[in-house]
Amino acid sequence: MSGPRISVVGTGLYVPDRLVTNEDLAKVLDTSDEWIRTRTGIKQRYFAEPGTGAAPLGAEAGRRALAAAKVAPEDIDLVLCATMTPDYIIPSCAALIQRDLKLENAGGFDLMAACSGWVFGTVTAAQFLAAGTARHVLLVGAEQMTSVIDPEDRGTRVIFGDGAAAAVIRASRDDEPGQLLHSKMRLAGNDELLYIPAGGSRQPSIDAASIERRDHYVKMKGREIFRFAVTRFGELIEDALQGAGVTVDDIKLVIPHQVNLRIIESAVDRVGLSMDRVLLNIDRYGNTSGASVGIALHEAADSGRIERGDLVLMVAFGAGLSWGSALLRW
Ligand SMILES: CC(C)(COP(=O)(O)OP(=O)(O)OC[C@H]1O[C@@H](n2cnc3c(N)ncnc32)[C@H](O)[C@@H]1OP(=O)(O)O)[C@@H](O)C(=O)NCCC(=O)NCCS
Repeated sequence: MSGPRISVVGTGLYVPDRLVTNEDLAKVLDTSDEWIRTRTGIKQRYFAEPGTGAAPLGAEAGRRALAAAKVAPEDIDLVLCATMTPDYIIPSCAALIQRDLKLENAGGFDLMAACSGWVFGTVTAAQFLAAGTARHVLLVGAEQMTSVIDPEDRGTRVIFGDGAAAAVIRASRDDEPGQLLHSKMRLAGNDELLYIPAGGSRQPSIDAASIERRDHYVKMKGREIFRFAVTRFGELIEDALQGAGVTVDDIKLVIPHQVNLRIIESAVDRVGLSMDRVLLNIDRYGNTSGASVGIALHEAADSGRIERGDLVLMVAFGAGLSWGSALLRW
């Protein structure tokens, strides 16, 4: 099969200490554990202290991935950070992670694809490795979602969590099975269903009026996003199977963006996959956007649910609108 021969040689995960349960949120918002669990599958999530930033979370995940991979910081030549909550507009999170981890020989940049960030990042990393312009890529997904979520909006506050994941990826050696067998990245530009009105070049200054409108927070039309997600999710799985010429039975594990249990269940049902071959951890982390698939991948690898040679299908979608998949032979 064609496709860049790449191997993930180490992964890492980091979440902040503060665990927030549904009951904790029900004390400050008009919501309940029952509503959150039945509508989303989420039981708890982690919140970083205000002002932490995504880069320190990503750097810690990166440190753990380097240790797991037994790769020295100076051997990383590209750091990619998938994030929609960068510490600053400039410099990039990638630059801050480069500094914190002393990646002396690395270039790098942030990749803004919201919840599709980890999947788009994997596909991007593979291109640099295939072209030979990077030998070791550190892919990081890092989010402090609490910095952009309205604490008073029950529709979004209960869904998102903070956290980070990282992976060291390099070209596979001759005796290694690792390969990106199929990938897809798509956009359908939309700044109505899921967006943050202020803080960018359209509305750069956050003044009293924009704070009053709460324009510095995520605006989401939940029902429309739900419909978009279910359709795209199913299509992505079918597409990847067709593109790689494999059947659903060949896939060891599907690692979906941890968006909403009901969305995942309906998409998986559509392609005839059983839920025991889907990695779910949304109950423990909520939706961590660009970090979500990376956190799930780390847990799959760390727990031995995937082994070398297994086919692993990562699928994600989110703001943009964006959606994508990466089918890896692990
Ligand atoms: C957000 C989501 C869970 C809401 O579930 P839903 O079944 O669509 O619910 P609705 O938005 O239709 O709202 C139904 C009611 O629940 C209320 N509600 C919303 N959030 C609530 C909460 N946390 N607790 C209690 N009630 C809530 C709404 O206000 C509404 O009340 P109303 O009927 O009195 O107006 C669901 O739409 C969803 O998961 N969408 C996808 C969002 C997503 O994943 N975004 C990230 C994409 S990467």
